[in-house]
Amino acid sequence: MKVLSRFKGNTIEIRPMREIDIPESRRVGQEAWSDLVSRDIGRKIRYPIRPRRIVETYMWKEPKGCLVVYENDILVGSAFSHVWGNVGWVGPIEILPESQNKGIGRMLLNASEEYLRNRGCQVIGVETMPNMPKNLHFYIMGGYVPRQLTLITEKPVRVSESKPIPPSTRELDGGELDDLLPKVVDLSKQVNPLLDYSIEFKAMFKKQLGQCMVLEHEGKIEGAALLHSYTRSGDSNFCSIKLVLVNNNLPNPWEAFIDLIFACETKALELGRKRIYSRFSGDNPKTYSVMTDCGFRLANSNIRVVKDGDYVENTDFHISSWAG
Ligand SMILES: CC(C)(COP(=O)(O)OP(=O)(O)OC[C@H]1O[C@@H](n2cnc3c(N)ncnc32)[C@H](O)[C@@H]1OP(=O)(O)O)[C@@H](O)C(=O)NCCC(=O)NCCS
Repeated sequence: MKVLSRFKGNTIEIRPMREIDIPESRRVGQEAWSDLVSRDIGRKIRYPIRPRRIVETYMWKEPKGCLVVYENDILVGSAFSHVWGNVGWVGPIEILPESQNKGIGRMLLNASEEYLRNRGCQVIGVETMPNMPKNLHFYIMGGYVPRQLTLITEKPVRVSESKPIPPSTRELDGGELDDLLPKVVDLSKQVNPLLDYSIEFKAMFKKQLGQCMVLEHEGKIEGAALLHSYTRSGDSNFCSIKLVLVNNNLPNPWEAFIDLIFACETKALELGRKRIYSRFSGDNPKTYSVMTDCGFRLANSNIRVVKDGDYVENTDFHISSWAG
């Protein structure tokens, strides 16, 4: 995809990101988020730069879906597309502060949507901050409908609270991934028939982003969790439970869900992490209450906005968010 246009006297080009764009795209992202956070809290903040490996992972997952926008030959923005089966989402999308409010963000978002539709996505979404009027305006005017809150929760990982890894769980070895993938496809479909999380499992191992914990019942894998533990060097206090999937036909799926959460925590402790994060749908009070019982506290929220089709998550014991 390549869009070359004259817009308000400027030449705008949108094209897939190349390796050579990565450093500038990371810098632009850092500028955009530093500006947003500084405005929000009323003092100057330097937002951390996105690790190179994370950008490379996005590019590995969707080589043509990571877009950069050039204004008069200067890189002023980027957007990353994610395809989970027939569900597509964009994140993050960012424009250099000096180039904002000129319609460039809209052009870039349109190009990402076009990419996702061509990849077969029947639902397109984004998660954004509900307290940012500009962001809400940007997406609602773009045809997105606010659908649900995503709860951002955190928990300190304390040695004093450590428990042995639940006997029903274990860490998956990379060599077992191919056998796990058909199960991931099945469990994804239980959440929503359009959904397939396989690429996230592949990326986790391929790019060494963390660990996959699995839950076994009667000798078969019936649940899986992705613990994202990769951090840039010198910043190794955090990790995040990115995804939890549990077979809803198990006799006690909540027990399986809690076992997977504890398996992730035990792993986090083993890795020396001090805090563990998790983002999940606020649509189900039971999930929130179970996570609260597990010691997670609400830190913030995002709002999921959706366009094209509608999207609901049909299982409760599930952790996932559309956040880059
Ligand atoms: C969100 C972002 C990508 C938009 O890029 P952009 O190039 O400024 O977007 P556009 O110029 O196409 O559109 C901005 C719209 O917001 C409107 N706007 C600007 N400030 C606003 C405010 N305070 N309140 C409401 N609307 C506002 C503009 O008028 C424009 O709307 P219009 O097209 O209906 O006139 C950019 O602001 C950014 O990088 N933000 C920081 C990172 C971020 O928040 N990313 C999104 C995460 S989900």
